[in-house]
Amino acid sequence: MIEKVVEGKFLIDGKIIHCCVGIERGTIVDVKKSLDGETKIRFPRGLILPSAVDVHVHLRDPGLTHKEDFSTGTLSAAFGGVSCVIDMPNTKPPTVDKESCKEKISIGERKSYVDFGIYLGVNENNIKKLRDFEGLVTGFKIYLPDFDITLLGELSKLKVKRVLAFHAEEKRCIEKFGKKSENLIEHAKTRASVCEKTAVEKVLKEMEKTDFHIHFCHISSSISLYALSQFKKKVSVGVTPHHLLFKASRSLTPQSYYKVNPPLRTSLDQEALWEALLSGEIDIIESDHAPHTTDEKEVDFSEAPSGIPGVETMYPVMLYVFLMKGYPLERLVSALCSRPARLFGLKKGRIAKGMDADFIVVDLKKVKKIMADRLHYKCGWTPFEGMKGIFPTDLFVRGERIIEDEELVGDRGFGRFVKPREGEESCTEK
Ligand code: NCD
Ligand code: ZN
Ligand code: ZN
Repeated sequence: MIEKVVEGKFLIDGKIIHCCVGIERGTIVDVKKSLDGETKIRFPRGLILPSAVDVHVHLRDPGLTHKEDFSTGTLSAAFGGVSCVIDMPNTKPPTVDKESCKEKISIGERKSYVDFGIYLGVNENNIKKLRDFEGLVTGFKIYLPDFDITLLGELSKLKVKRVLAFHAEEKRCIEKFGKKSENLIEHAKTRASVCEKTAVEKVLKEMEKTDFHIHFCHISSSISLYALSQFKKKVSVGVTPHHLLFKASRSLTPQSYYKVNPPLRTSLDQEALWEALLSGEIDIIESDHAPHTTDEKEVDFSEAPSGIPGVETMYPVMLYVFLMKGYPLERLVSALCSRPARLFGLKKGRIAKGMDADFIVVDLKKVKKIMADRLHYKCGWTPFEGMKGIFPTDLFVRGERIIEDEELVGDRGFGRFVKPREGEESCTEK
């Protein structure tokens, strides 16, 4: 008999169907109308959706753990319906060599509540040796504001079939505009969208032929989307909930809390982002969870660090907005779950045979007001304060219940390090 069976209403391939999902050793082995299991868990109410894979979080561990750490960050992920996160390399020390990769993986294995991957930060020193990291990391990251763009040509020739994610703001362009800014509208001007567009174009030109799977993180402007549409190259494109839901304006307060890179832009940019998300031109939603403490944010705007937290609110807020607007849930689940998993060659993000048994249960009628003191971030604040969201009541990761009835039942250290499956290529196909 099958080890474990979960029965309820699942969203599968765009349809809501009542069925049973059979699980053995954390993997989905069967999806049928009815199944018997040694353990059977029934959800007579609620809807079961795949849990999210957030390909862009800054968990700040090691070295910046006054802002967040692997425990608090992944606990927040769990409560937000995220069963897998991929952590960015700008920690202390940065994740740029074998030692720092191994250290971060071991921290994650000790502290993580959900599965996790890591990025290697690509720099002038390791760029020639990236092949040595292929088996060690989940993906590669280039932060273009700190990167010599003339190196891209060389990089494109490396035979590495992994995700290469870009923070696309071109260094020289930001330096040109780069005066100090005193508020959000100025910030958007000093890091103008043309700098994002230029970065996107340069990457696409220089890396037209490459084995890497190019991912553009947190695209924020309509002109960058236009630039992307002018190239035939298959790449993947991410957007954050904050760029979809906020524009640069005086009414966001305190202003410095909303300071982020790339900046919040105009309502026209927001409209273009929504259109591209709904059409599939933008294929991934990522949180860019970048927590800073209130003390760090409560300084003069020009001195405040950029970045806002979001891993716990991403799924709940987007789910609420999609329902309110009547947008197809299938599109949301693709952008939050199956596309990011597929991009990284992970067996997650879909309720189907052979996939990890990762899913959430939601009660679509249980709409909550978002309040920082109910979230699990170390930084203690959220830019989505007072907005509405639908939080999962339950979370399963590899068949184990991590959240039950809105309470934590999972263990610290349960999370496992993930990287693309052996022989499984990452995939930029739509
Ligand atoms: C991020 C951070 O704080 O680490 N800040 C941000 O404004 N997004 C860095 C980044 O993703 O660019
Ligand atoms: Zn970034
Ligand atoms: Zn980031």
